[in-house]
Amino acid sequence: MRLAADTITHVAILTTSNTKISVVVIISSYADGSAARGVFADETVTVGLTDGRKTRLRNVLIGCSDSYQGSNFDNVDGLLGLANTKHSFAAYAVEKFGRKFSYCLVDHLSNINATSYITFGGGASRNRVKLSGNARRTTLELQALTPFYAVKIRGISVDGKTLEIPMKVWDVTQGGGTILDSGTSLTYLTNPAYQTVMEALTMSVSKYPRVKLDAVPMDYCFNSTGFDATWVPKLILHFEDGARFEPHWNSYVIPVGGGVRCLGFLPARFPGVCVIGNIMQQKYFWEYDLTAKELSFAPSACS
Ligand SMILES: *[C@@H]1O[C@H](CO)[C@@H](O)[C@H](O)[C@H]1NC(C)=O
Ligand SMILES: *[C@@H]1O[C@H](CO)[C@@H](O)[C@H](O)[C@H]1NC(C)=O
Repeated sequence: MRLAADTITHVAILTTSNTKISVVVIISSYADGSAARGVFADETVTVGLTDGRKTRLRNVLIGCSDSYQGSNFDNVDGLLGLANTKHSFAAYAVEKFGRKFSYCLVDHLSNINATSYITFGGGASRNRVKLSGNARRTTLELQALTPFYAVKIRGISVDGKTLEIPMKVWDVTQGGGTILDSGTSLTYLTNPAYQTVMEALTMSVSKYPRVKLDAVPMDYCFNSTGFDATWVPKLILHFEDGARFEPHWNSYVIPVGGGVRCLGFLPARFPGVCVIGNIMQQKYFWEYDLTAKELSFAPSACS
């Protein structure tokens, strides 16, 4: 049967059945050293479609972990593989529903009733804000840093001033490059860029008392009592093809609780890859078009 609607909004797996093969022990490792261990099974998965109906996806690879290391998996119900590899859920879903997927992430501290969403396929999104005329578009590099989604950045500006960052930081052929990653929370910049961006941002918050917190990985945190958001400089990521990503200020001057905010960047070694994490991506709608190799994005309340 051919379904009228070709998108999924609910990634929650409703049921799985018909386990065929399992007992392949796997260890999947992440860049931060965390890893999970368990078995893979070939499953039939039931998913919700945007028109309210449900459909079955056969032969979906589902992993069931029995142990893990690293705090990445604390309080996590599960992981949905979105990587550009043949075994990820995204790869399966985009082949079935159209070679696009999109998501919108609400603020991680927002009311529990505010929900993020992810949709596979390019069809009508149920009540969702469609990309409007003011959407930005940039090239999605599918081959540069597989299985990640790479983007080409040309520079970063803070309050209109382009920071002096060596071009090799952004250049895959020189050991650099940037990925947009939904599975990493904070944003990683390789070292020449990290230093420069932190210097530019700390100037504006240095009037607030600096706080050292062991519980957070970020280096620069401050007591935000009496904090005035209008002091936060405007950070813009400039893509090579001219598109600009202007993250919400709350996404890089991050509240961590107890009246403290931290600059939401972590250093990474060069040669290495910069990672635009999911907090930076909050309150934006992101569409990955794997056929056109295009990333579109626009500010959104995700409602
Ligand atoms: C979330 O929504 C439910 C149902 O509408 C409501 O009863 C509840 O108070 C809401 N929770 C918050 C934290 O707003
Ligand atoms: C922040 O500063 C206020 C006012 O000086 C103080 O009452 C509060 O304890 C400080 N909070 C932290 C986390 O240092």
